[in-house]
Amino acid sequence: MRAWALCCALSCVVDGWGGRRRSNKHHAEEVLTEEFRPATRKTRCLAFDRGVDCLDLGTCANGTARRRAFVSVFDAYVELPLENRKGPGLLEHEAKVARVARRNGADRIFVFPVPEKQKVPVAAATIAALEDLGVKIRYSEHVVPPKLSAGIMVESGGCCGAREFLKLEPMGYGEYDAMIVADLDYDPEDGADLCADFGPLFDCVAEGRVVTTRGPEVPVNGAFLAVPPSELLRSRLRAALETARVDYRAGWNGEGWGLCWGPNNNPHAHFQARMQGFFHWFFYRSRLSAAAKDAQARWRPAQVDPCVWNVQKGLADVCARERCAGRARAYGHLHHPREDCACVDDADWNEHRSTAHTCEHVAKDPDRRCGSVDAAGRNASLACPSACDARCAAARSEA
Ligand SMILES: *[C@@H]1O[C@H](CO)[C@@H](O)[C@H](O)[C@H]1NC(C)=O
Ligand SMILES: *[C@@H]1O[C@H](CO)[C@@H](O)[C@H](O)[C@H]1NC(C)=O
Repeated sequence: MRAWALCCALSCVVDGWGGRRRSNKHHAEEVLTEEFRPATRKTRCLAFDRGVDCLDLGTCANGTARRRAFVSVFDAYVELPLENRKGPGLLEHEAKVARVARRNGADRIFVFPVPEKQKVPVAAATIAALEDLGVKIRYSEHVVPPKLSAGIMVESGGCCGAREFLKLEPMGYGEYDAMIVADLDYDPEDGADLCADFGPLFDCVAEGRVVTTRGPEVPVNGAFLAVPPSELLRSRLRAALETARVDYRAGWNGEGWGLCWGPNNNPHAHFQARMQGFFHWFFYRSRLSAAAKDAQARWRPAQVDPCVWNVQKGLADVCARERCAGRARAYGHLHHPREDCACVDDADWNEHRSTAHTCEHVAKDPDRRCGSVDAAGRNASLACPSACDARCAAARSEA
């Protein structure tokens, strides 16, 4: 299990702090953040400690991305887990990701350490099975980046500590112009419809942008990092790791952690010594590092809607509309994304005479409005269950 969670980068498990502001009662130095901000629809995309507009993918030219890839890495520090108690096994999942990749004109790539750097060798049969699925296998000379700064500990928690920086390796594959480096269990939609279309995202990335999503508790979630790979990008990122330091209290390079973006003011959520914390500091937060500033100007980092591109389990409520309307394209740790959708209103529905007459409008007078229909003749009874379906009202009053 531990390894299946490889770089399931949400390392900010809420673990016993049990509630906001509790840090007040502890030593002052445990107060790592001034304020907490819940994940809301208004803070879906973040930059420099603020909620900002998500990148509008409609603004990027169609077809910019020609060479595309979905990449995952595995550190081979433990056995590659073929079984997953909570979801499909690795090969079944890989078959799906490879299918989605093909449909998007992208390669599916797996990066392992070179055999002599594998602590637990990846079985030849597994490699063969992956190759049979069309997965391209590549190898990295390094797991932990060469010349990692002494100010970054190797064992810093999460699944794999600084071994997670193996994700930097494919970011140097300059033969691709757009790449999503995702956790092993990043779970894309697999329909032939729009939901499996990653084209607009790849196109914006291929314009030279670094693109991420926020997580449930943290401002960058490491399960999904989209980059325009190049030797320059990788070398800049590695160079930053040669000099940076990270500290539980002072954050990256002493610049602090910034606001807490989770449901609890949980100091442990802040100790982001690995990929997602590094990416956040380097691309979305640092004002003091010249290297970071240069990278921010060069790669124009932006965020895209996590409710579409990376619905992590902890965002399930915030993203209910997208999940239930079938607009989400990928999930993290959310194995049944539509199981609780029976009572979620269709955010796209409106009564045919007015776009203002949405389900919210219906809810103000359900007795009269549940029979109204949209332009396609679909009535509010079906589209607005929270107001019009008695079972949903009952479930609400029990809650
Ligand atoms: C982008 O171009 C492709 C290939 O020409 C086409 O199939 C697709 O519909 C276009 N997408 C948009 C959003 O225009
Ligand atoms: C809404 O539409 C469904 C399916 O057509 C129908 O069974 C139902 O009676 C309608 N509800 C109302 C309140 O008109």
